[in-house]
Amino acid sequence: MRKSAHALEPATAAWGGARTPSPEAYRRRDVYEREVERVFRRSWIAVARVDQVARPGDYATIDVFGEPLVVVRDRENEIRVLSRVCRHRAMPVAQGCGNRHSLQCPYHLWTYGLDGRLLGAPGMELADGFDRASVRLPALRSDTWEGWVFATFDPDARPLAHDLGPLARAIAPWRVGELRTLEPLVYESPWNWKVMVENFMESYHHAGIHGDTLQPSFPAERTWAEDADGPFAILHNPVRAAGTPMPALLPSIDGLPEERRGELLVCAAFPLHLFAIASDHMLWYRIEPRAYDHFTLRIFPCVPVAAAEDPALRERIAALRSFVDLVHCQDIRVCEAVQAGLGSRLAAPGHYSHLEKALWQFHRWLAARLAH
Ligand code: FES
Ligand SMILES: [Fe+2]
Repeated sequence: MRKSAHALEPATAAWGGARTPSPEAYRRRDVYEREVERVFRRSWIAVARVDQVARPGDYATIDVFGEPLVVVRDRENEIRVLSRVCRHRAMPVAQGCGNRHSLQCPYHLWTYGLDGRLLGAPGMELADGFDRASVRLPALRSDTWEGWVFATFDPDARPLAHDLGPLARAIAPWRVGELRTLEPLVYESPWNWKVMVENFMESYHHAGIHGDTLQPSFPAERTWAEDADGPFAILHNPVRAAGTPMPALLPSIDGLPEERRGELLVCAAFPLHLFAIASDHMLWYRIEPRAYDHFTLRIFPCVPVAAAEDPALRERIAALRSFVDLVHCQDIRVCEAVQAGLGSRLAAPGHYSHLEKALWQFHRWLAARLAH
C-alpha cells in the first residue's frame, strides 16, 4: 500500500477496532497531492447551485484544487462547466459571477462563446498555422443532482447519481433542489480539508465548543449516523425534546412533514460535499482545497424562495447569517488548533466515540480511494 493510504490505515479496521488516521495524513504535502490525483480529480465535485446560473448567460467561477473553472448556462439553456484558463497564455477569462453574452479574456481580448468555442482573437490574423475554429475552453463532464451542479475531471467516473440513491431518498422530504441560494459567508481556512469534513460530520463536539449555540437544541448525545456503505454519510441530530419543533427563524420548507421538522440532518457526499438541512433552511459548505493546510470555505445559506423574496423576513435572514457565523467561528477555533496539534511528533491515532461513526465511514472510503 502506498504511504498516503498508509496514513489512513488505522481507520480501515472494522468498527470497534478502528482508530482515527495518522497525523501524517494531515500534515504531508505528498498525501495531499495524492488526494488531488486519486480522489478529487476522480470524484464528482459540487461547483455551483443550479439557481446560481438560472438564466442563459449566467456564469459563476470557482477554483478547486488549483483548477480555475467557470460554470455557465449557454444560449441553448445547457449548463456547462469549463476550464476558464485562456488558451492563449493562461489568463483566467472570468472572475466572480454575473451574466454575459460571451467570455472575454481581459489580457489580449480573445473572446469565447458560452459553449467554450473561441469566437474572436484580434491580432492573430497573421499567426502561422493558427486555426481559430479548433480552439476552445476544455469542458468537464457535468451533471446536476438535487439542485447542485457537479463536475468531474474523470471521463470514466460512474454517473453522479449512481451511488447517491440512499442519500437522495434521505433528503427528499426537504426538496432542497427548490431552495434559493443566498450570498455565501467566506472563510480562508488554514487547516487540512479533512479536519473540516470531520468537524462537520460529528455533533459529539456540540457539548464542548457549541455549548451555548447548538447543544441546547441538538444535544451531542442524541445524534447518530446511519449505517452506510457508499460515498456518503448521514448524521441525524434530533431536537432535545422529542416532538418539539426546533427553533426556526423562517417559515418551514413547504410540504415538509410535521414529524421531520424537529431535526437537523447533516450530510456528506464524499469527498468534499457537505450540507446540513433544517426545517427552514439548508447550509451548503463548499470546500475549495488549495494546499494540504489551506482551503477556502464558502457557506451558502439556502432558504425557501418565498422567504428569500419576503422583505418582512430580511432581518430574520440576517439573523440566520449571524448565527451561522457565530457557530462557524466556534468551529474555526478548534479546527485551527487541531491542525497545530496534528503537527506534534507526539500526536497519534485516537479512538472514535460511538457518536463519530460517520467519520469512520469517511476515512474508510478515503483510504480505499487512495490505495488504488
Ligand atoms: S491570455 Fe487570454 S488573450 Fe492572451
Ligand atoms: Fe461545529
